[in-house]
Amino acid sequence: MEGEEENRLYFGDNLDILQRYIASESVDLVYLDPPFNSDATYNVLFREHNGTDAAAQIRVFEDTWHWDLSAARAYQETVEAGGKVSEALQAFRKLVGDSDMLAYVSMMAPRLKELHRVLKPTGSIYLHCDPTASHYLKLLMDAVFVGGFQSEVIWSYRRWPTKTKNYQHMHDILLYYVKGRPPVFNVLYEPASESFLHRFKGKANILDKGATKKRPSEKDTPGLPMRDVWEISIIAGSSKERLGYPTQKPLALLERVIEVSSNRDQVVLDPFCGCGTTIDAAQKLGRGWIGIDITHLAINLLRHRLCDAYGEGIYKTFTVIGEPTTVSDARVLAERDRYQFQWWALGLVGARPAETKKGADKGIDGRLYFHDDPGSQKTKQIVFSVKAGKPSVAHVRDLRGVVEREQAEMGVMISMLSPTKDMRTEAANAGFYESSWGKHPRIQLLTISDLLAGKHIDMPPATGANVTFKKGRKNSPDSPLQMRLRETEEGYGADSELNLYR
Ligand SMILES: C[S@@+](CC[C@H](N)C(=O)[O-])C[C@H]1O[C@@H](n2cnc3c(N)ncnc32)[C@H](O)[C@@H]1O
Repeated sequence: MEGEEENRLYFGDNLDILQRYIASESVDLVYLDPPFNSDATYNVLFREHNGTDAAAQIRVFEDTWHWDLSAARAYQETVEAGGKVSEALQAFRKLVGDSDMLAYVSMMAPRLKELHRVLKPTGSIYLHCDPTASHYLKLLMDAVFVGGFQSEVIWSYRRWPTKTKNYQHMHDILLYYVKGRPPVFNVLYEPASESFLHRFKGKANILDKGATKKRPSEKDTPGLPMRDVWEISIIAGSSKERLGYPTQKPLALLERVIEVSSNRDQVVLDPFCGCGTTIDAAQKLGRGWIGIDITHLAINLLRHRLCDAYGEGIYKTFTVIGEPTTVSDARVLAERDRYQFQWWALGLVGARPAETKKGADKGIDGRLYFHDDPGSQKTKQIVFSVKAGKPSVAHVRDLRGVVEREQAEMGVMISMLSPTKDMRTEAANAGFYESSWGKHPRIQLLTISDLLAGKHIDMPPATGANVTFKKGRKNSPDSPLQMRLRETEEGYGADSELNLYR
C-alpha cells in the first residue's frame, strides 16, 4: 500500500475526524454520499429470526439539517474564513434565506474544504447527490475545487413507479471533480450496440479510422468509451447484496468509480461510509481505504459485511478508531448519547438493537439469534437489556420476565456499573439453558468493563451460531470488467443509428 498505511474505520463526525486524523494530501480518491436533505428519517432493516426483513424502527440518522444554532455557527465560521466558499455561502443566504437548504450547504462547506485538503494534487472526488440539492452543491464544489469540474455523472436506475403528477424520479447525480492535474482516469468501455457494430465494420473502437470487410464480433472490440450516463440497477429487495441499510448503494456503482479514478494500492476515502459499499469495493479491487461514519450501527454492519465477504482474517487488516476502548470512554458515550451507547455495547457482543416502535419489544434493548442444533436449524434467541445508569434487582427481575414472555433461551444485562449481590442472586435463581455444549446461565450479568476485558456471553460456541445480522455476499474473484458492465447495463429502446450505446 502506498505510504504503508493500514486501512482505517473511524466512528465519529467526519468534520472532526478529518481535522484530527487525516493528513493533508494523503488520499487519492474521495467518494461521498451525504444524507440528501430529503427530509426523511431512515430505519435500518434487520433480519428477523424467521428469515424475513423486519422494519426495526431504529433511527439511523436524521436526513435533515435545520437552520438552528449549530447551522448558524457553521455558516458563520465558513463566512468568516473568507475566500470563494465564503462568497458562495453568502450568495446562498441571499437566495434561500435562513432555510434548511442553507443549513445543509453550511454543513457541507467545511467538510468539502477538508476533503480538498486531504486529497493529493492528482486526486479525484465524487459527490453523490440528487436533484434536491445538486444545483447548490455544484456551486459549492465550484467554489472549493476551483476549475476542477470534470463531469456530472447520471446514475440512472429503474424502480417501481410512485404516485406523482411529475416525472418519475429515477436518477441520482455524481459530481466528479479533480483537485489538480493530471488525475488518474482509467478509460472504461461499454459494449457497442448492434447497429454500431454493423455500421462501423471492423473498427477496433470509435476512435479508429479505416475499416475491414469482416464485421467484428463483440470480443474484437473494446467497445465505446464510457458515457456519463450509467445504467446500474438499484439493489433489489431480494438481492443477496442487500444488507438492510436504507441508503445502501450498489457495489457495481462504487466499483466503477474506483476503477476509473484510482489505481491499485491507492487510498480511497468515504467520509459518510454507511454500511460500507465503498469500503467493500475498495477492498475487492486492492485499494487502501478509510471509512468514517457517525453511527455505531453503520460501523457494526460494515464489520459484519467485510467478515462475510473476506473472512475473519480481514479483522487483522484494519483498525477501528473512535470507539470507546476504556470504561471512561464508554461513560462519556453513555452520557452523550444513550442510543449510540446501546448500539456500541450491543455491537461488542454481536447483538442487534431491538425495535423502538411504541409498545413493541418492551423491556428489550437488543437481540441475538443463534443456531445450536445443526439437525433442526431452529433459531433461538438471547434478549438484552443495556443499562447506562445504575442497575437494580428490579431490572434483573424484569429481564427474567421478558425472557419468559419472549420464550427466549437466555437474557443478558450489560451495565456500566457492577451488579449488586442481590442482582447476582436473582440472576442465579433463573437457572440454566441446556445445550449439547453444556449449561449456560439463563440470566447473565456483564459489565462494560468485563466486555472490554474480552469476556464473552456464556452461550453455545458453534461456529456460525450467531445469525443475527443479515449475511452479506461472499467475495467472488473478479469477473472481467466488460462482463460486469454488460450485466448491469439495461437497454435503451430502439436500435437506431444514433443508438451507438445500448
Ligand atoms: C446516505 S448514507 C451512506 C450510504 C453508503 N453510501 C452505503 O452504501 O451504505 C449517509 C451516511 O452518513 C452518515 N453520516 C451522517 N452525518 C455524518 C457525519 N457528520 N459524519 C459521519 N457520518 C455521517 C450516516 O450515519 C449514514 O450512514
